[in-house]
Amino acid sequence: MILYFSGTGNTRYAARGLAKLLGDEAVSMNSLIRTRTHKRFYSDRPYVICAPIYAWRFPRIVESFIRRSDFWGSDRFYFVATCDSQTGGAAYFLKKICEEKSVRFCGFSSVAMPENYIVMYDAPSREEQDEILSGADEEIKSVAQRIIEGESISDSRKMPFAGIASRVINPVFYSFFVGDRKFYADSSCVSCGKCTEVCPFNNISLKNGRPVWNSRCTHCMACICVCPVTAIEYGGKTEGKERYINLREFSGGGNNG
Ligand SMILES: Cc1cc2nc3c(=O)[nH]c(=O)nc-3n(C[C@H](O)[C@H](O)[C@H](O)COP(=O)(O)O)c2cc1C
Ligand code: SF4
Ligand code: SF4
Repeated sequence: MILYFSGTGNTRYAARGLAKLLGDEAVSMNSLIRTRTHKRFYSDRPYVICAPIYAWRFPRIVESFIRRSDFWGSDRFYFVATCDSQTGGAAYFLKKICEEKSVRFCGFSSVAMPENYIVMYDAPSREEQDEILSGADEEIKSVAQRIIEGESISDSRKMPFAGIASRVINPVFYSFFVGDRKFYADSSCVSCGKCTEVCPFNNISLKNGRPVWNSRCTHCMACICVCPVTAIEYGGKTEGKERYINLREFSGGGNNG
């Protein structure tokens, strides 16, 4: 079973690609996280858990979802991240979770995808996105091949001070940067409700036809990127900037889970 969490579609693309190559099913964690469902999974094939990298680590919501879920059948766990370029020491924390749950850690690997963190960086151009996604296709194939052969997987993306990034900077990042106070919708909002539907934290409600953020946010970038009229902004950081959504995955626009 391939389980995935995705904000803007990259990880969904990787997970569905893996599912196709492995002849297995891809199951979204987004709606389960959104509804705080305590889930019992069963799979007689290895579990492949896929998520984006947030500050050199799997997102906190994904780590806690894995911790509180029950997994039956296979005790083999693979982890595949999508990232821009750096995974830091993410594998260390996933290995620890496997130890806590007494399951087998079969390795961690990553797939480079277009950057989606538009409140800090620029999304790549359409041409660059295509090039990056072609590279991603190759990485997805080679991860799938290792899993088919029953081999462990490993990450080719090494960086200096990976441990410090994931252990020290990651908590600082969550404390000081991750929050929804700076989100707002301008007068171009057409009250379509798409931003409320995509939030994996169920953090957005409509008040008088306009979105209101209710303090539970993981900076997944789904709300700001799916708005069909680009009405959502983040402080002064996103005005005039291109939004990012994985167009191969969501050609119609919008993340449906
Ligand atoms: C909050 C946040 C933090 C991120 N931190 C990193 C990072 O540490 N390293 C990296 O290479 N990419 C980082 N990224 C980029 C994403 O991991 C990457 O674009 C990913 O493929 C997005 O997946 P999704 O479309 O499934 O949400 C970050 C993105 C976000 C939104
Ligand atoms: S409020 Fe927006 S950025 Fe924050 S978790 Fe929800 S969809 Fe993601
Ligand atoms: S997605 Fe955009 S237009 Fe639709 S309700 Fe949200 S802010 Fe308004």
